[in-house]
Amino acid sequence: MQEKLIAKFEEIFGAGADVRSYFAPGRVNLIGEHTDYNGGHVFPCALTIGTYGIARKREDKKLRFYSMNFDKLGVLESSVEGLKPDNAANWTNYPKGVMWAFGERGMKVTQGMDLLLYGNIPNGSGLSSSASVEVLTGYILRDLFGFSVTNQDLALIGQYAENNFNGVNCGIMDQFAIAMGKADHAIFLDTATLHYEYAPLKLDGAKIIISCTNKKRGLGDSKYNERRAECEAALAELQTQTNIRSLGDLDEKQFAQYQNAIKDETRIKRAKHAVYENQRTLRAVEALKNQDLKLFGELMNASHVSLRDDYEVTGKELDTMVEEAWKVDGVIGSRMTGAGFGGCTVSIVKEEAVDAFIAQVGKAYKEKIGYAGDFYVVEIGDGPCRLDTIKAN
Ligand code: GLA
Repeated sequence: MQEKLIAKFEEIFGAGADVRSYFAPGRVNLIGEHTDYNGGHVFPCALTIGTYGIARKREDKKLRFYSMNFDKLGVLESSVEGLKPDNAANWTNYPKGVMWAFGERGMKVTQGMDLLLYGNIPNGSGLSSSASVEVLTGYILRDLFGFSVTNQDLALIGQYAENNFNGVNCGIMDQFAIAMGKADHAIFLDTATLHYEYAPLKLDGAKIIISCTNKKRGLGDSKYNERRAECEAALAELQTQTNIRSLGDLDEKQFAQYQNAIKDETRIKRAKHAVYENQRTLRAVEALKNQDLKLFGELMNASHVSLRDDYEVTGKELDTMVEEAWKVDGVIGSRMTGAGFGGCTVSIVKEEAVDAFIAQVGKAYKEKIGYAGDFYVVEIGDGPCRLDTIKAN
């Protein structure tokens, strides 16, 4: 793959010494949705699909960017000087945001670079293509300019950039899953403390299928901020009765005890999801440790129901995809993944049922929604890497 990308890089930017190749994955979250900004736990993993980057340091201050996913835009040129927050929907604002964020942390980028990107994460799918670009950029800056930052720092810098440069109020899950990914493992992360553990994903021959609704997110972004605000308001009400720092501090029993403090039905539902989903995540990780895949799947299903009924972030497309999946023999669990409102579902499916799953769910989805979904049998991969230091495929 990288030979082709290097050839394209040289065609666009010209040949020359020290052209380096990199990769950062996308992510899928198995359970623990909309908990990462509520001080709860998440359980995501990195994928083997993601973003490739070819980069070369420049002697001047120019930034020249080219994305093979947006060929029509051609080369986009700017400068490392005077970078400032910009929430316009222009892909270069992701790498620029990360450069700016390094500067904010006292690591000013003073030299320019040429950068070519190619992503094989399906567009608008909610598999974190933007976090992938952020972590990739941070990794490249570290490698090219020698900044002393850990992979965990790269996650935090990526999130800081997305929050403060791009104006998207996301939590830490996506960048963390990408920067810290480990093949065949999911990451059990406590977002309140950033304490994490790798959990081997022993699926007993079952496969992970990502089903893409092909409903793009958009409106979703404003709803995302609305949900965050609802949870913050519910937390403030609960704090009048009990001394907690976040919704993740409560279990179901404690929530029942204090929920009357929340003076609005909708906010009660939102907070209930955050509390219950966090507890489900703890149980799901325990179930996986006990090799109880059946329970793990049931908790995934319950997560979807809660996201549908209490958090209300699913919609017709995601619900259809999941409800059709539940009908297929050999499906261990299925739920929406990511922010919701569109994007993808994640299902754990017995190996022998994979073909039937894709045929059956694909047919029913198209009949009910009117256009086709896409299906990917995915593998759990590592975090970011420099490709030319490992053996090429
Ligand atoms: C998006 C955000 C994450 C997280 C999920 C929902 O992917 O970027 O931080 O909040 O939604 O779990």
